[in-house]
Amino acid sequence: MKVLMKSYGCQMNDYDSELALGLLKKQGYSATNQEEDADVILFNTCSVREHAEDRVFNQIKELRLLKERRPDILIGVMGCMVENYKTQFFDDFPQVDILIGTRNITELPQAIEKARSEKTKIIKLKRNGFGYDLYETPKIEGKFHAFLPIMTGCDKVCSFCIVPYVRGPEISRASHEVIGEVKRLADFGVKHVTFLGQNVNSYGNKLDQEINFSKLLSEVSKISGIKKISFTTSHPEDAHEELFQVIRDHEKISRHFHLPLQSGSDRMLERMRRGHTLTQYRVKIDRMRELIPDVSISTDIICGFPGETLEDYEMTKQALVDIQYDSAFIFKYSPRPHTGAARYVDHISDLEKTRRVTELLHVEKKIMRECNERFLNRAFPVLISEPSKKSKAELLAHTWHDKKVILKGERSEIGSIMNVRLTDLINETFRTERIL
Ligand code: SAH
Ligand code: F3S
Repeated sequence: MKVLMKSYGCQMNDYDSELALGLLKKQGYSATNQEEDADVILFNTCSVREHAEDRVFNQIKELRLLKERRPDILIGVMGCMVENYKTQFFDDFPQVDILIGTRNITELPQAIEKARSEKTKIIKLKRNGFGYDLYETPKIEGKFHAFLPIMTGCDKVCSFCIVPYVRGPEISRASHEVIGEVKRLADFGVKHVTFLGQNVNSYGNKLDQEINFSKLLSEVSKISGIKKISFTTSHPEDAHEELFQVIRDHEKISRHFHLPLQSGSDRMLERMRRGHTLTQYRVKIDRMRELIPDVSISTDIICGFPGETLEDYEMTKQALVDIQYDSAFIFKYSPRPHTGAARYVDHISDLEKTRRVTELLHVEKKIMRECNERFLNRAFPVLISEPSKKSKAELLAHTWHDKKVILKGERSEIGSIMNVRLTDLINETFRTERIL
């Protein structure tokens, strides 16, 4: 039996797709990337912006003919769109057989089995529990990096965001489970873990344990075998000094911090229900930079939120210039069902949103270049992650600030740490020379 997985959206979805494939491989499935070869086609979906949903709808539509020709093929949809549309999928797309909610991935193999043997449609949705059974991150040959969700869901109320609706309330995984899982990953050769959560900074808030995100990071730092620990995403309200100190004091922890700002206008931040002002945000950035030298900082920005005037927009542009982000993800606002902002009527035209996004991308490109230049002609340790796509004699690696570098070397060195000097910058990639 062969399965084709089409994965969309965030890193949590990448993890979920790997987990689903791992579970199916245990049942004897192998992966394929050809629709014609597949016995099961799965979509792991994203609802954050309308565009992401449209791509999936279009692809599912196109499968109607294949399903008519090969009625035995099973088509399943997983993730956020299932939570958003539920059984409406079956009504609108009769070719869909299986629907799996965001916290039901471990039920996928049984659902496929049942849909096949009983020739019925299956939907699995639930809201309680973490949704990942213990110790199930699949082992992937030759991979030294692993994602690991430490929490899921979100208790914030950002008025543009559908995530609390589709991923449910915030829930953290017990710290002994996280630590056990990282040890297990280290035992099968993983060197770099990335902790995932909608708001990792509030990790542990609802756990019956004396633990928070900073303590978890320092505990995981003790695991030998693990060389690098990254995490995403942080909410400015919950990113505290204690966390910055823990990063400073533990050299395994990544020096890259993703701290979404969304807008540089206090009026917009309030309307977005972000829970902080620009000044409060900047105090955190300044403190982070004091405590963690050279910390690289990235952000998310939304352009054209309802009611965003040119003045509000200019404030966002100014914030990019003032804060000097190493990188920024800049999105057009997309109205989402089940969100507070959906009720606003003062929408910005699509053309104007595009204009604002394009201009901000242009502004940020220059800033990114300048930020990167501060690393030139300096030496840093890098963790080698994979062969370079361009040349057989070269390898791809990242610094602890998440700067991408190319170095000369052998494939056998993948997974090891080297010291290099960053000699040249081409687009966003550094050329290097080794330091012995
Ligand atoms: N805390 C989450 C955020 C999820 S959404 C995380 O783990 O990444 C990621 C980003 O998408 C947000 O920071 C925001 O900038 C953007 N986004 C969310 N809802 C959006 C919408 N309705 N329109 C445009 N961008 C949106
Ligand atoms: Fe969304 Fe805000 Fe939570 S962006 S995921 S509601 S922190």
